[in-house]
Amino acid sequence: MTDAPALRARLVDVLRADGGLTRADLIHAFATVPREVFLADGFHDREQGFLRPDDDGFLDAAYRNDALVTKLDDGRPVSSSSQPSLMALMIEELGVAAGMRVLEIGAGTGYNAALMAAVGADVTSVDVQPDVAARAAAALTAAGVGNARVRVGDGYLGAPEGAPYDRVIVTVGITGVSPHWLAQLRPGGLMVAPIAHAGNNPVLRVWTEPGDGRARPDWPARDDVWADGVCGAGFMAAAGPLGASYPWAHPAPVRADGPIVPTVRVPPRWRQPVDGLRYHDLWFAVGAWDRRATSAPFDGGTGCVLLDETRGGGAAIQADGAILAAGAHAESYAGDAGILLDRWVDLGTPGIERWRAAMVLSGEPEAPIYVPREWALVV
Ligand SMILES: C[S@@+](CC[C@H](N)C(=O)[O-])C[C@H]1O[C@@H](n2cnc3c(N)ncnc32)[C@H](O)[C@@H]1O
Repeated sequence: MTDAPALRARLVDVLRADGGLTRADLIHAFATVPREVFLADGFHDREQGFLRPDDDGFLDAAYRNDALVTKLDDGRPVSSSSQPSLMALMIEELGVAAGMRVLEIGAGTGYNAALMAAVGADVTSVDVQPDVAARAAAALTAAGVGNARVRVGDGYLGAPEGAPYDRVIVTVGITGVSPHWLAQLRPGGLMVAPIAHAGNNPVLRVWTEPGDGRARPDWPARDDVWADGVCGAGFMAAAGPLGASYPWAHPAPVRADGPIVPTVRVPPRWRQPVDGLRYHDLWFAVGAWDRRATSAPFDGGTGCVLLDETRGGGAAIQADGAILAAGAHAESYAGDAGILLDRWVDLGTPGIERWRAAMVLSGEPEAPIYVPREWALVV
């Protein structure tokens, strides 16, 4: 197919079937905002290599429901256009609507900002990379988007000149939420952000308890910030204090060349594996209960692993409930993984949306972030 409106219509069908795109105004936005304009300098396609606008297959690939990497640094993705189904889900979850002021962290290509602008929001989007921000600004102009602007800077500081905002949307993987965003958010405002958890970046909804609407005297430390689970996701990691580690964080994901080879194998417990997002539900629960949980390659795939201190062993939990363990304490890790699996099953296999955590200040002392403290199931 080479006809952009037809490709947009096909994308809309895919996103509606996926279940994350339901609102008429957002359907209209996806059906009219030209994603290809935001990819004018090309992108890395998994199958076809680097694709530029004149290349065969460019337009078709531009309208696939895929994250499209637009910039690599040393082979590592440092900017992209996120997966459209995830954008739809995040925008709907936030309830972005006409007349709202929205702060976006991670402008990337500018496409997500254009979608929110198309539903009538006024968008200020920040990106830390000047070249990326310049391209996004040029694309917004080329697409005729008037109500969205791009700022260059570390998103940690937000964009005070546009405050107060009704909504904050974060489209880069962070370990915690900036107090500046909370200060720039209207009382009762909402935020969605992919916050690191067990080697992934699930999308969380961050909110504060209703106050009296006045500025809080205890800024930045406050005890009324909460996070609720929304859905499993993966995002590239943010630069700067938004990606800071903290004492009870899970280990960094293992990105080893070769998988860890198991010496202990506990057989599958389910004939029907828990599929994609359900596996993320299981993974989230394991991470909520065990600080050793992260992402690692393990005999045939990458998934949820209780990692040992050597980072070369531990126990992997597979989608069919099988456990593969390796390293000096393989037996004991396999046992612990089994206990966590039992717990998830005994509790009725809760989904991510069942979890809530209080957020507390941690990260770098001079640039602190709110991070989830104790996860608990909401009854
Ligand atoms: C996945 S892309 C964002 C996708 C984008 N919303 C779109 O529609 O194309 C993530 C972006 O976050 C930016 N980023 C990383 N760390 C950042 C930070 N500390 N502050 C602001 N932007 C940051 C990167 O430069 C990258 O362009």
